[in-house]
Amino acid sequence: MKRILITGGAGFIGTHVVRLFVKKYPNYKILNLDALTYAGNLSNLRDIETASNYSFYNIDITKFEELKLIFDKFQPTDIIHLAAESHVDRSIVHPMAFAQTNIMGTLNLLELARQFWKENSKSNTFYQISTDEVYGTLPLNSPLLFSEHTAYDPHSPYAASKASADHFVRAYSNTYGLPIKISNCSNNYGPYQFPEKLIPLTILNIINNKPIPVYGNGLNVRDWLWVGDHASAIDIIFHQGKNGQTFNIGGSNEIANIDIVKLLCKIADQKLGRVLGTSEKLITFIEDRKGHDLRYAIDANKIKFELGWTPSQTLEEGLEKTVDWYLENEVWLDEVISGTYKNYYQQQYKSLNPKT
Ligand code: NAD
Ligand code: TYD
Repeated sequence: MKRILITGGAGFIGTHVVRLFVKKYPNYKILNLDALTYAGNLSNLRDIETASNYSFYNIDITKFEELKLIFDKFQPTDIIHLAAESHVDRSIVHPMAFAQTNIMGTLNLLELARQFWKENSKSNTFYQISTDEVYGTLPLNSPLLFSEHTAYDPHSPYAASKASADHFVRAYSNTYGLPIKISNCSNNYGPYQFPEKLIPLTILNIINNKPIPVYGNGLNVRDWLWVGDHASAIDIIFHQGKNGQTFNIGGSNEIANIDIVKLLCKIADQKLGRVLGTSEKLITFIEDRKGHDLRYAIDANKIKFELGWTPSQTLEEGLEKTVDWYLENEVWLDEVISGTYKNYYQQQYKSLNPKT
């Protein structure tokens, strides 16, 4: 029986991965380990929090001794590692926090996996969830894509910290025979994303009639993926990907920031019964991000042809579902904006699960 430690399970992508695994694999034990930073919101998992195969621990992965206690107690057979500081803009202001969590936190997990698992074990997996931002940037209007063979060339402190962590994961495989997998995914969007990233921030500001900030000229390109499709790719790679392999995951949905913002405005105007063009008036071009990567785009052929994964959602379908979700979940948004989501763990979750 698998006992999977999922780190960062209270964050945006982690929420979807934890829910998928808890529901789809009732025979696995899933332990969600998360420090509940500003980006962690346990109320995202209300619907599965009492499942018999699920438990949660409020632990910081930079604290080796606390982590070790969890390894002692839970004896994980596998680790799916999502916990990270994840926002590029924050990494520009506070790079040290990114080095601590993303590099040192990953190293703590690797070290414990090395200590707890047999060398060259075939029954364990350390699965590192990474980003396409480790590859740096691509030129605009070019056919070039990031493949699994693209050299790492991270530009932001966030990307540098994730690249460093990926290097450590491979070093542990090469040096100690630790069984590993890595996937590098493009930009995700969908329900439960903290409204600091482009898509949820745009929706939030449309709802509140506030300016929508677009950096620079808005022509930077991202390759967007529905978060549920990322979770299904993680499921497939975890179960079918070979030891030591890397997979790129992307939606083949390249679009300039200004165009995706305009699309969101159009969808929201329809949903909110506003005159078409109302929300677009909120678009405000502001100073560019420092070192702003021009373009990300993924070649996802390896995961498609080796593992049979393809995205289930078109960008238009996914964006419409996302706008619907934020409009239907204004309480979630209000709690996040006011900060009261932080009380969920102390007031409700802890009393429900006093041992966590
Ligand atoms: P997120 O910021 O929404 O969630 C991160 C989670 O990690 C939060 O629950 C937070 O509380 C937790 N965390 C942070 N520091 C921690 C620490 N020291 N100890 C324990 N937990 C800690 O991030 P996300 O968007 O869900 O991203 C999850 C992972 O996927 C990250 O590793 C990120 O690099 C990667 N990724 C994200 C995207 C994207 O578009 N969001 C794309 C590709 C890869
Ligand atoms: P973001 O969602 O922060 O993801 P990442 O930086 O990891 O790609 O940003 C997506 C794109 O949108 C990126 O090119 C920066 C841009 N952007 C804006 O133009 N305005 C904003 O307010 C934000 C948060 C991002």
